[in-house]
Amino acid sequence: MAGHNSPHPTMESFQKINTFYEQYYAALKEKGIHSHKETEKGFWLSSVSTEVFDLFRTIGLEQFNHFADLGSGDGKVALIASLFTKSTGIEFDEELVQRSNQIKKEIGANNLRFKKGDFLEEDLSAYDILFVYPDNPLVRLEQKLLKEFRGDLIVCGGIYPPERLVKKRVVQINNAVFGIYRRGWLSGYFTGRRWKA
Ligand SMILES: C[S@@+](CC[C@H](N)C(=O)[O-])C[C@H]1O[C@@H](n2cnc3c(N)ncnc32)[C@H](O)[C@@H]1O
Repeated sequence: MAGHNSPHPTMESFQKINTFYEQYYAALKEKGIHSHKETEKGFWLSSVSTEVFDLFRTIGLEQFNHFADLGSGDGKVALIASLFTKSTGIEFDEELVQRSNQIKKEIGANNLRFKKGDFLEEDLSAYDILFVYPDNPLVRLEQKLLKEFRGDLIVCGGIYPPERLVKKRVVQINNAVFGIYRRGWLSGYFTGRRWKA
């Protein structure tokens, strides 16, 4: 962790993103378009902006070099993360990636990119902190992380907790619970010997 990023993003910069998404969802609703949908890889639902911003402030996201949201939906979490550090959103659904890029342009965000792809096929060793709001059990992601990732994984909600990564910390913001996981020395042992695919 290098700590060279934006230590104190202003409430104004966050409010700009928050207000943008609120207005955007309201406009979609007026047209009868839902802000959730089934995708080829799962189901898209959006995190709550204020909870995500408070989470990032609580953990000091600026201390990390490169954040990635695995399954970034319409880009909200990756956009908020870009207020603190370099940020990437990886999403399989083409339409959601297009929307994310459009919103990025309209907000004028820096430090941020969106990639269309399957995060299970990306090299995740390039990041030091990952976020996932899982819509499926994390078995395949966890196997991959045990092999190639040494940083922290934030898991939103308690429905699909990782089973072999070690829980370092739990952050509760309002009713939202975020678990922070990382590889333990025993996880490495199991990856190398017993669990190796
Ligand atoms: C519950 S949504 C979370 C969206 C966003 N992270 C947020 O918190 O607002 C999960 C997203 O992950 C995407 N997804 C699921 N599996 C994926 C995969 N293997 N590769 C890329 N995207 C994936 C889905 O298409 C969906 O948009």
